[in-house]
Amino acid sequence: MNILVIGQGGREHTLVWKIAQSPLVEKIYCVPGNAGIAEIAECLALPLDNKFAELVTWAESARIALTVVGPEVPLAAGIVDAFRARGLKAFGPDKRAAQLEASKDFAKQLLIKNGIPTAAYRTYVDAAQAIADIKARNVPVFVKANGLAAGKGVIPGRTVAEATQAVKTILVDKAFGAAGDSVVIEEELIGEEASFTVLTDGHTCVPFVSSQDHKMSHDGDTGKNTGGMGAYSPAPVITPELHAYVMERVVYPTINGMAAIGCPFKGVLYVGLMITDAGPKVLEFNCRFGDPEAQVLLPRLKSDLVPMLIACIDGTLNRYAEPEWHAGAAACVVMASGGYPDLYETGEVIHGLLEAAAIEGVTVFHAGTKRDNGQVLTDGGRVLGVTAVAEGLESAIQQAYRGVSAINFADAHVRSDIGYRALGRN
Ligand code: AMP
Ligand code: GLY
Repeated sequence: MNILVIGQGGREHTLVWKIAQSPLVEKIYCVPGNAGIAEIAECLALPLDNKFAELVTWAESARIALTVVGPEVPLAAGIVDAFRARGLKAFGPDKRAAQLEASKDFAKQLLIKNGIPTAAYRTYVDAAQAIADIKARNVPVFVKANGLAAGKGVIPGRTVAEATQAVKTILVDKAFGAAGDSVVIEEELIGEEASFTVLTDGHTCVPFVSSQDHKMSHDGDTGKNTGGMGAYSPAPVITPELHAYVMERVVYPTINGMAAIGCPFKGVLYVGLMITDAGPKVLEFNCRFGDPEAQVLLPRLKSDLVPMLIACIDGTLNRYAEPEWHAGAAACVVMASGGYPDLYETGEVIHGLLEAAAIEGVTVFHAGTKRDNGQVLTDGGRVLGVTAVAEGLESAIQQAYRGVSAINFADAHVRSDIGYRALGRN
């Protein structure tokens, strides 16, 4: 069959790489793709606006049997609805179900209604009201733009002044545009974070192995919030007991709660958790694979991904056997352009890609890259996800960093401590 992947990041390169291993697949297309994806798929620059009309028409003519949507923005804009309206299979939640990620207020209401553990919160549209409440309450708090902000719309308010400024940045200065038409202010949760990813057809949920990303830009989890500077799997903080607890108390109540309000959720549910002393609590939902979590999850999956994705769309996941996993571990170290997540340069020549890929266990997933005159150039904030699979986490991390050492481009920024929390447990 012909498969179309939507997106251009490291997650999408990993999806294309995994899908290409399926014996069911004839040809893979990607819109828009990047330099790494272009080595295994045909990349097309079709527009993703105008209700996806041109894209769906092209998909019909190219006999696309399955479209896999990587990022949240087209999901929240209704890309799955557009394909479905023309009788085409697209993997991911529809527009209404994607609110679980696209509106933090929607997610919080669902959590509270279904008794799922999460931080206490309140939603505001009025800055004066929000600031008055901050002054009357305890800090620290977390101030969050309600809508989609590429993982950057969450501002910690450690002091009243900081929290007040965060409210102004979001509600008054509109730093995140319409995503900041309202803010969610939450109490702080203390503990270790972990990501929990499941595939679901709206009823049955198939969990992935655990993973954890590093969201902060600099070593020691300092600096600014980014889309993610690295990831590893498994995340030892998710013990078998916690896994069972999260499935029973978080995942199924969420999926059943969505079905109960007429928003059945199909696709990837990614639950961001804080493992507190009082047990796991939900920090956020995402309605797609994490990036860079996908870079460590998909290489560990032994089973064919394609029939699993189709079963999610068809509502037949209950007939699907448990997926098989490679034993061992995976680590991904992101190489970013200096300055990311703020301003950065692009167009720098990347050297050493082949040398890195020749290292045992290493695969280099491209994010912001483009090909020009036979060279691969940087073309975004996060540039590469250097990923390694190995017998254990320590060796996976070591191999990934060996890969990083083989690669260079001007002003590259890399965290040197990916996985330190997990290693600290040994
Ligand atoms: P979110 O996008 O809502 O997951 O927030 C991004 C990051 O901010 C999370 O991964 C946490 O590191 C941090 N964060 C968000 N909300 C809280 C909270 N209530 N308590 C502690 N940390 C938080
Ligand atoms: N790495 C976090 C995310 O994909 O949202």
